[in-house]
Amino acid sequence: MSDDSRPSPAQVRAETGPHTGVAAVIPAAGRGVRLGPGAPKALRTLNGTPMLIHAVRALAASRHVTLVVVVAPPDGAPEVKSLLDAHALPGGTPSGSWGSTDFLVVPGGESRQESVKLGLDALPPGHDVVLVHDAARPLVPVDTVDAVIEAVRDGARAVVPALPLADTVKEVEPAATPGDPEPVVATPARARLRAVQTPQGFDRDTLVRAHETVTDDVTDDASMVEQLGLQVVTVPGHEEAFKVTRPLDLVLAEAVLARRRLNDGF
Ligand code: CTP
Ligand code: MG
Repeated sequence: MSDDSRPSPAQVRAETGPHTGVAAVIPAAGRGVRLGPGAPKALRTLNGTPMLIHAVRALAASRHVTLVVVVAPPDGAPEVKSLLDAHALPGGTPSGSWGSTDFLVVPGGESRQESVKLGLDALPPGHDVVLVHDAARPLVPVDTVDAVIEAVRDGARAVVPALPLADTVKEVEPAATPGDPEPVVATPARARLRAVQTPQGFDRDTLVRAHETVTDDVTDDASMVEQLGLQVVTVPGHEEAFKVTRPLDLVLAEAVLARRRLNDGF
């Protein structure tokens, strides 16, 4: 569906009744150290288009998402704003919007947690559901985004897309020097483990409270909600929602895009 045939935020609100819009915070302020030298990870390209643009498109593809807050590298907010405008404008929409989805850009922080908090601080009122989505997961399918939103609207306060693991996981006593042998401490039953992805979806007040309360280092937002003693639930994730972390992931991401183009051709 082309951007200009999509309903306006007001039409979406009218159709979805009492719900207010869903806002998505996209942390994109990381350097991408594990990807190796180069531009900040979110600005690295997949088939010529920055990963961040793929990620914003993936979330804006959901008719429920009316606002995207992009958390840019600390000194890169103006560049990211122009990038978003440049990729949105061909759709004929005014600066600061993308089809029926508005966007804001704010500078990020030192840690992912801090970046997400800065994005949340910038959220205007009127969004009762908030998604947090890594720019580093540029290819998440819209059905996964919508499944997360639906579960929050059905009453869950925190929802994570999750997949069973292929590998067995060991808990170890980490070695002081990377590469040294590490004693294995335990082997959790694989059938009970899940690898979690983003977007993670939240009732807004719950997520804001979690970010105000929890100060421990965490690697995802749902674990902060767990620390408040609240229930987090999973919905099925998707293999295409993998996180681009290491160089091989760039190859995989471009292969996924090539497969999509091929499928679109038929
Ligand atoms: N992120 C962020 N602010 C930070 C660190 C990370 O917004 N200070 C974002 C990244 O841009 C990414 C997401 O959090 O979209 C997930 O983090 P990760 O995959 O670890 O990305 P990087 O931190 O950039 O990568 P690395 O850890 O390899 O440096
Ligand atoms: Mg990181």
